[in-house]
Amino acid sequence: MNPAIAAVSGSLIRELHGRRRPTSINLGIGEPTLLPDARYFERATAWTAKHGCRYSTNIGDHDLRAAIAAHYAYPHLAHADNVCITCGSQEAVYLALRTLVDPAREDVLVIEPAFPVYVKIAQAEGIPLRRLDLDARAADAFDAEAILEAIGPRTRLVVLCSPSNPTGRVISRGTVARISVELLARGGPPVYILHDQIYRELVYVDDVGEFADVYPYTVGVNSLSKSNALPGLRLGWLSAPKDVMPSIVKMHGWVTSCAGTFAQRVALEIFAAKALDEHRAWYTAQRAGVLSALRETALEFIQPQGAFYVCVRVGTDDTLGFAEALLEQRDVVAIPGDVFGPSLKGWLRTSYVGPLPEVVEGLQRVAALKREHDATLARRSTERAQTAG
Ligand SMILES: Cc1ncc(COP(=O)(O)O)c(C=O)c1O
Repeated sequence: MNPAIAAVSGSLIRELHGRRRPTSINLGIGEPTLLPDARYFERATAWTAKHGCRYSTNIGDHDLRAAIAAHYAYPHLAHADNVCITCGSQEAVYLALRTLVDPAREDVLVIEPAFPVYVKIAQAEGIPLRRLDLDARAADAFDAEAILEAIGPRTRLVVLCSPSNPTGRVISRGTVARISVELLARGGPPVYILHDQIYRELVYVDDVGEFADVYPYTVGVNSLSKSNALPGLRLGWLSAPKDVMPSIVKMHGWVTSCAGTFAQRVALEIFAAKALDEHRAWYTAQRAGVLSALRETALEFIQPQGAFYVCVRVGTDDTLGFAEALLEQRDVVAIPGDVFGPSLKGWLRTSYVGPLPEVVEGLQRVAALKREHDATLARRSTERAQTAG
């Protein structure tokens, strides 16, 4: 057995999900509850009936890769050869970490609070790791100066997610420009930026920075899991400069051969229909409803600019204890914020993918439990003061 795997903890998010009851309100879930549009499947089925369901090339179907490159039209990633189709963006993250960093000489910097998988993969693969935990409440949640300062002499890859899971904060164009200009001016071997863009289609602000627009050493990862409610399709992609693609595709071939061919066909139909943002209006309405409900609860929250999460402050150091009490006593699943980084200790990540009345009810129950906790703490501190006096 590989002891490195045993040393890395499993997913607390999945564990809490596993403990939910049929009656539970699920604010922990990180996947859409919307149903996907079946037309893409019907078209892909008709195509498959005619052409079969063979392996594709390792890198993936050429037409799909060309459609992805053309759709985003990033200046340095504009060709089919810049795109590899993967089994979800999670495989794409794995390939980037595994391929771009020499674990004997280099390290990876993960910008937190963040989706825990980046850190887990680095730990499991023995890739030296730096972590920068930023204050998601700050005016600029992605502090360019702090990020630049945290990049060490051995750092080959910086990983960040914008729009962010868990906070929904978005990196601005100015911050992207500032980081890019500085990194390009440094000279020496390039520092790659792994920009996880899985929530790219779900944004609610105008100032949205994308590294691939300006920085030639960007590796972008994305998928259809969130934008088109297709997490089970396991269809994602990685976009990267051409010179690193052969190694990435070699690794991808060893790990999975190729992404599912039927899934690739479904994806091609979605790109052909220009339907990447087909659910944005629904999430925009959800977010508006959630924010107005939150204002009434008086819970402190981090204003989400994208994705489908909102972090709420419950104000205890034992965030897991609070999440467990929430499940046991109020029948609500939510994720302790410190799973994503220490700065979210005392916060819960809640998602607003379910029916709005249910989400609002769940948030009201969070607020009620917080009031109860606050009252208990206040009573205990009065008792302590009386005993001391
Ligand atoms: C930030 C982020 N990146 C990557 C993933 C992996 O998604 P998938 O492999 O389904 O594309 C998720 C899933 O929740 C996520 O939230």
